[in-house]
Amino acid sequence: MAAKIISGTQVAKEIREELKKEVEELKGKHNLVPGLVTILVGENPASVSYVTAKQKTAHELGFYSVQDNQPEDISEETLLALIDKYNKDDSIHGILVQLPLPKHIDETKVIYAIDPDKDVDGFHPVNVGRLMIGAKCFLPCTPHGIQQLLIRSGIETEGAEVVIVGRSNIVGKPIANMLMQKKPGANATVTVCHTRTKDMAFHTKRADILIVAAGAPKAVTADMVKEGVVVIDVGVNRIGKSASGKAILCGDVDFDAVKEKASAITPVPGGVGPMTITMLMLNTVQAAKNTLEG
Ligand code: GUN
Repeated sequence: MAAKIISGTQVAKEIREELKKEVEELKGKHNLVPGLVTILVGENPASVSYVTAKQKTAHELGFYSVQDNQPEDISEETLLALIDKYNKDDSIHGILVQLPLPKHIDETKVIYAIDPDKDVDGFHPVNVGRLMIGAKCFLPCTPHGIQQLLIRSGIETEGAEVVIVGRSNIVGKPIANMLMQKKPGANATVTVCHTRTKDMAFHTKRADILIVAAGAPKAVTADMVKEGVVVIDVGVNRIGKSASGKAILCGDVDFDAVKEKASAITPVPGGVGPMTITMLMLNTVQAAKNTLEG
């Protein structure tokens, strides 16, 4: 049985249409325009392309969007002062500092400097802590996108064996926390595998839902999964360039072989990727709405 292909492109489009209506309503009823600033330090090509895509989407949804480009050699002090300026700016509801940052800047300090109420990435420890205890918070965008893909594709997580490959702060740890919460769209039994896991295949073969954020192309092969598994591939690996110079992408899963065993699988590109940006927009709308609550 060939797997159902879970289209992140399609689900992201649905959510963006919902958001667009919400933005119009906020403008009409409350004279409130969600504001997002994306701060880019230097010119890392992958970061430039991510930030450009985020700004384009913000613009399409009717946000007030600011792209703030800073030179590679900006001092940590100047960057922290810039963040403080946006913390105090009432027209800005969401602040995103694109990572990674140059080596002379302490990323932790930068994340701590963002007002947790404007932390639409969900990286500030206050939001990480709230997530862990199941309180209201900004969910980090990629895990949030994964959970929405599962919910909106009708995939039952309650009681499911979820196996996660990868323990990063951006994906592995937060998605593990989210899916173990006593909440709809969660309630799973969660296992997290990582580089020190002794027998990876032992765990991945038990998965009803397998989430792969390993950071290595084709790290999960067909012999590592069971029939009927749902596979979410978070990997984005640039494995070459097309004749026109466009990056050729592949995921962390051997898609062609695994799709023959899976019941559902996300492609790369067009799976988790489009969801990440959309969740950033959702968080920004949420941040704007939070200001109405006073
Ligand atoms: N770099 C790669 N992914 C992300 C992300 O989700 N947020 C930020 N700020 N930087 C990133």
